[in-house]
Amino acid sequence: MGIEKKINDLKEKERLAELGGGEARIERQHRAGKLTARERIRLLLDEGSFQEMDKLVRHQCHDFGMEKKRIYGDGVVTGYGTINGRTVFVFAQDFTVFGGSLSLTNAAKICKIMDLAMKVGVPVIGLNDSGGARIQEGVASLAGYADIFLRNVLASGVIPQISAIMGPCAGGAVYSPALTDFIIMTKNISNMFITGPDVIREVTHEEVTMEELGGAETHNTISGVAHFAAEDEEHTFDLIRELLSFIPDNNLEDPPLLETTDPSDRVEEELNEVVPDDPNQPYDIRQVIRLVVDDNYFFEVQEHYAPNIVIGFARLAGQSVGIVANQPDHLAGVLDINASDKAARFVRFCDAFNIPLITFEDVPGFLPGVAQEHGGIIRHGAKLLYAFAEATVPKITIITRKAYGGAYCVMASKHIRADINYAYPTAEIAVMGPEGAVSIVYKRELDAAASPAELHQEKVKEFREKFANPYIACEKGFLDEVIEPKFTRPKLIAALKMMENKRDSNPAKKHGNIPL
Ligand code: HXC
Repeated sequence: MGIEKKINDLKEKERLAELGGGEARIERQHRAGKLTARERIRLLLDEGSFQEMDKLVRHQCHDFGMEKKRIYGDGVVTGYGTINGRTVFVFAQDFTVFGGSLSLTNAAKICKIMDLAMKVGVPVIGLNDSGGARIQEGVASLAGYADIFLRNVLASGVIPQISAIMGPCAGGAVYSPALTDFIIMTKNISNMFITGPDVIREVTHEEVTMEELGGAETHNTISGVAHFAAEDEEHTFDLIRELLSFIPDNNLEDPPLLETTDPSDRVEEELNEVVPDDPNQPYDIRQVIRLVVDDNYFFEVQEHYAPNIVIGFARLAGQSVGIVANQPDHLAGVLDINASDKAARFVRFCDAFNIPLITFEDVPGFLPGVAQEHGGIIRHGAKLLYAFAEATVPKITIITRKAYGGAYCVMASKHIRADINYAYPTAEIAVMGPEGAVSIVYKRELDAAASPAELHQEKVKEFREKFANPYIACEKGFLDEVIEPKFTRPKLIAALKMMENKRDSNPAKKHGNIPL
């Protein structure tokens, strides 16, 4: 074969690889409102940056007539490229080839890029669209999944891993995304479940649609499995790029700085008005966050799940920070099982990737109730306590109003290694709210009183005057400063600058035993 013929031969193989499952299936993919794997990668990465690997890999299965259907690429497109100039590895499952199902060779392609990503220390992004384990391959495909799971776990906390769910994701296929740091589900085209509606009908006699069971809305509101619900595929890629802008390439790097024209010494008068005088009046903590951070821009994570706690990324003087904030606008900002889980995982992500933590605290305590106790609020609440205590990144806490009970200790208090603790003059720090405290402490007197209501009121007033302020904690050095709210931004930026070279570590151990 002459060189020209050889080149043409290569071109033909590449053309076939690029066709995946063929024109008809590509059309079917488009009719289902979905882009193909290659179209997706093109839209995600910087133009022309994609370098494909293993384009000519073919499966090794010889059962069920599979030997006659050996498609180049074998149902997953893998390689590397750049996003805003930063290298990332990416895989996109190709639904046009055996429904994007996972074969042993297909899994080996994914493992290869994961291994390379670990060596060079850059993120891995997975675009999932797959019918799960390739049925014709039996245990070989299960082995392939397990090979990926192992790598997901070993990479956890070393390189960021982001999963986009852009089609079905059933059975074991959900566990690789579940092991990654962030899951973005594209509305209307994505599903995640362990067993589908048919199996559920047979086993539990429950009727449920695919969307109700495991659609983007379900996993963003009810289960908390997903972190973002994207409107469409374009929005999915926007979210991935945005997310990456806040996080470093690996655990040994710092997140990228983003220049800002927002002055570091910006004093925000409006902040003095946000926290209401009445301790029972709700307000939106996101208003406080936005007034403080660069360009008022807050990138919220898990917005629709456990809204009584708010988490997300923002920047201060260009530096990426992770924000955890109780939300008085929802259930008075109480900590419950879901809020504890949500925040704990986020705190651990930030700590793993050198992103300082800023905590805004206004919390009346843990949510009382049989369902919460029997659901294990003790264990779940302990996760958040553990996560905050374990974190060694710079930690700054601002108590805006209530800091009651165990929740005071949990929300990055001085005692669990927060570096700088501020409070607004509106802060109330005590074992519990004045009403509850008086009912317990003065129970006998109230029972004996001629007018218990009057005595209760009087004692509440006394209690409030004594405890519902930040100054006792201040006297003890548990707070570093009571600040006027309008100075929050300059105060935070100064503290972050001071901690630029912070070093702290945990005792040497194999790993801790977080109460899972
Ligand atoms: C092989 C598969 C496949 C699979 C789909 N296909 N899933 N081939 N293995 N798992 C093929 C179909 O035969 C079809 O081929 C093409 O992909 C498109 O599938 P359709 O069914 O026509 O598409 P659609 O109607 O959109 O339905 C998509 C789907 C459905 C919901 C994903 O295909 C489905 O239910 N598939 C099986 C899902 C499943 O149970 N997977 C195993 C999970 S268990 P042609 O040639 O017609 O185009 C698992 C265990 C892992 O994953 C455990 C690890 C721990």
